Amino acid sequence: MAVVQNSRCCSLIFLNFVIVTLLLFVSIDAESSSIVYEKKQPSVVIAFLVRNKAHTLPYFLTLLERLDYPKERISLWIRSDHNEDKTLEILKKWLSSVESDYHSINAELLSSPPKRLKDEMGPAHWSASRFMHVIQLREEALMSARQLWAEYLWFLDADVFITNHQTLQLLMEKDRLVVAPALKSDGLYSNFWCGMTDNFYYQRTDDYKPILSRERVGCFHVPMVHSSVLMDLRMTASDNLTYVGSNIPDYEGPHDDIITFALAANKSDIPLYVCNDHVYGFVMVPLEQTDELKQDFIQLTNLKLEVLVENSPLPVSGLLSGYVSYPEPDMMAFDVVFTINLRRRPERRRRMVDCFRELGVRSVVVDAVDGRLGAAAIQS
Ligand SMILES: *[C@@H]1O[C@H](CO)[C@@H](O)[C@H](O)[C@H]1NC(C)=O
Ligand SMILES: *[C@@H]1O[C@H](CO)[C@@H](O)[C@H](O)[C@H]1NC(C)=O
Repeated sequence: MAVVQNSRCCSLIFLNFVIVTLLLFVSIDAESSSIVYEKKQPSVVIAFLVRNKAHTLPYFLTLLERLDYPKERISLWIRSDHNEDKTLEILKKWLSSVESDYHSINAELLSSPPKRLKDEMGPAHWSASRFMHVIQLREEALMSARQLWAEYLWFLDADVFITNHQTLQLLMEKDRLVVAPALKSDGLYSNFWCGMTDNFYYQRTDDYKPILSRERVGCFHVPMVHSSVLMDLRMTASDNLTYVGSNIPDYEGPHDDIITFALAANKSDIPLYVCNDHVYGFVMVPLEQTDELKQDFIQLTNLKLEVLVENSPLPVSGLLSGYVSYPEPDMMAFDVVFTINLRRRPERRRRMVDCFRELGVRSVVVDAVDGRLGAAAIQS
């Protein structure tokens, strides 16, 4: 009897315990639901290949640094070789100033004689071995991002200027496997195609201009994006993305990094999107195969003037400002150059001063007569 009683008493205690525990759980649960835990931002690898970009890097790196995204969630993957300018010096200087800010930095900066690969005719010549080299590097970046378990990989070329600091967040919000921001240049060039020929090259279609000029706004399914491409590596299908033709069954395209990538996506049913819902940034018009580097300096000036049409000048951090130079200002063989400007339009004056600095024009600024002020004000 005693034993039975004893066990009943125990089960009562046990029941009590369970109830108290349940209450405890309920109260803990109520407590926790009132706390909003902030999620970490997705981890991103930003990958860029740099060659002979000493003129664009001060702007590119300054804008990269100013992205509104936590640097401890970003890993950088950088490769640079075969330079004939100060590219390596700038990269090293910049990296040593930011290296503790980013989650990790994987950089191989090769100071390499020879200046270029064997079959290259000039700094803008895309020979077969240069394509092979870039294909290998891009694939390596992709593998490295997968190995790091990065959630996103953003390929960003060093002649792209991401002036919208929200770009990375905005692109992630698109929730697409592959997405690119539509970039402006100083002409009809951009980083997306709306058509592809049967032999896989560029084809202009009627959709192109309205998207480029933002007559139509949104995200568009296109056959090609390049130069600034964000990939969501959390998606299983992203494992099929590649830059190497031999990874694709029955590959018939050329050995060209961007074309192979676009075809790999297409074969795996991954649509490519370009978005122009914001002004995200700018891209340089690429050189012709036979151009020399100095042609790229002119392209940069043209683009900077284009930026000034509706934006403030491309920024340069103090660290890198010594690498930016402007032409020696003169009066273009005239005795004097005047800038006549209404005092009440300071933004126009600012813009002309900025343009003339890029172009190397020395001008005398004169206040215009303001008709709105009336005769008395003018005479006084
Ligand atoms: C990759 O593409 C192949 C077809 O080429 C397809 O069978 C496979 O399901 C794809 N893998 C993923 C992860 O989407
Ligand atoms: C693949 O290419 C074909 C032919 O250009 C196109 O019709 C199709 O929409 C593309 N598929 C994807 C997923 O982009």
